[in-house]
Amino acid sequence: MASLVGVYAASHGPLLVREWAAVPEDQKERLTAGFRELGRRLAEARPDVLIEISPDHWVNFFLDNLPAVCIGVGEAHDGPPEPFLKEFPHRELNGHPEFAQHLARTALDAGFEPALSHRLKLDHGFCIPLWRMQLERLPRIVPMVVNSIEPPLPSIARCLAWGTLVRQAIQSYKEPLRVALLATGGLSHSIGEPTMGAIDEPFDRDCIRLFGSPAGKLVDYLHDNLPKTGNGAEEIRNWIVAHGAAGGRGFELIDYLPVPAVIVGCALAAWRL
Ligand SMILES: [Fe+2]
Repeated sequence: MASLVGVYAASHGPLLVREWAAVPEDQKERLTAGFRELGRRLAEARPDVLIEISPDHWVNFFLDNLPAVCIGVGEAHDGPPEPFLKEFPHRELNGHPEFAQHLARTALDAGFEPALSHRLKLDHGFCIPLWRMQLERLPRIVPMVVNSIEPPLPSIARCLAWGTLVRQAIQSYKEPLRVALLATGGLSHSIGEPTMGAIDEPFDRDCIRLFGSPAGKLVDYLHDNLPKTGNGAEEIRNWIVAHGAAGGRGFELIDYLPVPAVIVGCALAAWRL
């Protein structure tokens, strides 16, 4: 049987790379330390497979073809196509088709219909956290794209259910695979709308607190408050999938800091298993 050996989340804003020079020194130090700590924990968990959950930022999908959820089931995936990530050390990232297909099968049997891709391009949402975590060795990656970019978006309750399903897929996989999960994105930010650049720290702090409460409270809070904050906060869906996969026991916050230079409320977390 496979085992869940770690569940983590991290922000992935592109300016964490593109505008890194503009980040004040003290914030650089905290971000660097936070990502390193996450990387240390992930390495210590020794996963064979990392399920990585991120939105797609118009790299694989567009308005003509826009799945709510897409699982990458291929042997390999492409590294980030963004020019500012050309120094990312992996042009190709190995997948794990057997586990990915099992995850897809488990989903279909449970009444969930994800899209599938045999080769995804893994954009900054996937690769910036991996890069900043300074991993010596990348586990095999099973990407799971959750649409949090272009409405209509999957509901928060459905994302929580997806997390439970991921947990079931790990528990029902026959091989003794060590599986970790990394959700990326959020917390608050605002892109391409009149509030562009705004960071909603009270929203971020509420969310962080509510991940330690019964899941219903968190779902209700997000249902009521996501429409009132910047559109980038919709990426918290990925954290919700992670929360469901981890069994909803809350996380240890590694760090949270609003970083105006990268226009994101940056958070890093590791769930209690
Ligand atoms: Fe994003």
